[in-house]
This record gives sequence, C-alpha cells and structure tokens, in this order.
Amino acid sequence: MKRILVTGGLGFIGSHTVVELQNTGFNVVIIDDLSNSKIEVLDNITEITGKRPDFHQIDLRIKKDVQAFFDNHHIDGIIHFAAFKAVGESVQKPLEYYENNIGSLVYLLQEMRNRNIDHFIFSSSCTVYGQADELPITENAPTKPATSPYGNTKQIGEEIIRGTCKANGLNAIALRYFNPIGAHESVKIGELPLGVPQNLIPYITQTAAGIREQLSIFGDDYDTPDGTAIRDYIHVVDLANAHIAALQRLIDKKNLNNFEYFNVGTGKGSSVLEIVKTFESATNQKLNYKIVDRREGDITAAYADTTIANKELNWKTEKTLEEALQSAWLWQKKQQTS
Ligand code: WQD
Repeated sequence: MKRILVTGGLGFIGSHTVVELQNTGFNVVIIDDLSNSKIEVLDNITEITGKRPDFHQIDLRIKKDVQAFFDNHHIDGIIHFAAFKAVGESVQKPLEYYENNIGSLVYLLQEMRNRNIDHFIFSSSCTVYGQADELPITENAPTKPATSPYGNTKQIGEEIIRGTCKANGLNAIALRYFNPIGAHESVKIGELPLGVPQNLIPYITQTAAGIREQLSIFGDDYDTPDGTAIRDYIHVVDLANAHIAALQRLIDKKNLNNFEYFNVGTGKGSSVLEIVKTFESATNQKLNYKIVDRREGDITAAYADTTIANKELNWKTEKTLEEALQSAWLWQKKQQTS
C-alpha cells in the first residue's frame, strides 16, 4: 500500500483529500502546523473513514524538521497543500507569504530529490491566469503578472517545480483550482474560516446563520449579464478526487511530461447574484444582502475549460452547485450545535 504525505492535511481541501485517499486504499500521513486548522479534524477524518491517519505537527519552514521527518518515514508520494492562502492578507504580509509558501516548497522538493520520491501533486490556483483574455480558461491561456503575493507564490511555485523536475527527473502535477466550496456529506469536515470569512460561501452561510448581519456583494457594475462577478464554484469533494486522479496518473506513469498542470473547475461560471439565489432556493433560507463597491483586486470572470483535465485525468465533477451549497449550509448549522 503506497504511503502518501499530505501537507496541510487538516485544512479544508487537504482533509477532504485525505478522506478520498484513504477510501481509495492509500496509507496517509499528514503534516500540518495547525496555523489555519484544528486538531479535531484528525478525529473527524477518522470517524468518516475508520482509519486514523498518522499525524505530525511540523512547521515546514524549519528545514531540519523537514529533513528529520523524511529520515524517519518512507514516503511514496506527496500532495502539498500547506500554504498561506488569503489573497488580501498576502498584500499586507508579503514576506511571510514568500517565506512560508516558497520556503516550505523548496525544503519538500529537496527531500524528494535526495530520496528519489517521484510523485508530487501541487495545490495551485487559477489566480495564475489573472483576468484571462478568453473564457472559459484553458491551460494554454497565458499566465499574467500576479495581482497578489499569494498568486505570485503559486506562479513561482510552479516554476520551481518545473525546473526541479527537469533537472532531477522527478514527476509532478499542478492542479489549478477555481473556487472550492461545500463540505463532506457526513457533515464531519468542511471549511473552517478563522475570523471574518474572506470567501463568498462561508460569508453567505454565516449570514444565513445570523453570525453576520448582511452579505456585501462587491460590485454589480461588472461586464456580466447581471453585473456581478463570475466564478467557477467546484464542490470540494470533486476537487479532492481530482488529486487522487492526478496521483494515480503519476503512479501509472501516464503523464506526458515530467511537469503537467490542469485546470480543475466545473466548467460553468456563476455570478454572485446567481449564487445567492441558488443558495436561497437550495436551502430555503432568505439572505440579507446589499450591493457595495467592488473589492480591490477582483477580476470580472473566471471559469475553467475542463476538456483537458476531464480527458487526461479521466476525471470530471459529479456534484451540482445546489449540492455544494446545501452541504455548506448543513456544515454551517453543525458549527452552531458543536
Ligand atoms: C468570489 C466572488 C467576490 C465575498 C478565491 C480564493 C483564491 C483562489 C480563487 C484558490 C468574488 C465576491 C466575496 C463577499 C462578495 N482559490 N464576494 N462578497 O476572490 O474568486 O478567490 O478563489 O487558490 O485563493 O481566494 O473568491 O470567494 O473571495 O470571491 O461579493 O463577502 O464573490 O467579489 O466576485 P475569489 P471569493
């Protein structure tokens, strides 16, 4: 049974990927520094799958600790989620983002090279495209100068991986996420935003739960049918399964290059107002919202062309937007009772 290291494995996407890895028969070890996750998630994963992942609280910025981990653990592949990921925060704290997101990546890749660990899946982002000139966005779309240090760490990260694979014959896949939302059907794991949510869906669910008074919709003067910005909202379990498909592609040596990247979305764009209306109808909850000015740095529209990902990964999304929003709402209500 292959042993897969999942860094950031107690986080939102990481925990859902651990569950799918275990359900697929992989042995999972998690590294997480708990800076943006809770140790209770480990128990919740165990309750879902019946298998407790091995867990190590390690700060991947500390090179000697990373080396010590690999001295003591045989690893067959790595799925690397651990990173700071708040776009706005990254503008305020660029050096923390570069140190954490780039430093930890370099230390992991050094261990891969030194120990000939050959399968690496990287958590990347559609933010590498900025505002694409053509929609839907294909993998051939040019990357644009990053509009935030966060986005820049993803662009730099991909280039570091590309160069490392070329120089050392390693194999890696970057998955460029669109907008992950929702929660596991068990309602035992989901998104746990710390403080005031930056992202749309947790802000919506907290507004519906009465934690936030009103949702502010950032701008209705975009060049879109209803004036609000468009994104590609993908159920986090579908996204988790894309990681399994990518890992299996490397294990089966089906990759065409030693560094590949795929757009992971639903292929469908939804505006903010469409999300609000779909949430209301899917959950029977009325949302209190107002239109305010645009948020600095937001783009008009981004949604994926999933043709290549569907074909090459033999993967496609299976869950609907309604299911994702319903699961997010059930998860939110669970937070009120626990
Ligand atoms: C979505 C839409 C907002 C909050 C995220 C991640 C980024 C990357 C891509 C992974 C926008 C609007 C939001 C609110 C609103 N993912 N909005 N009111 O900006 O697309 O970026 O997905 O790497 O890391 O941050 O997602 O959820 O913040 O915003 O009107 O209170 O909702 O303007 O149009 P975004 P988001």
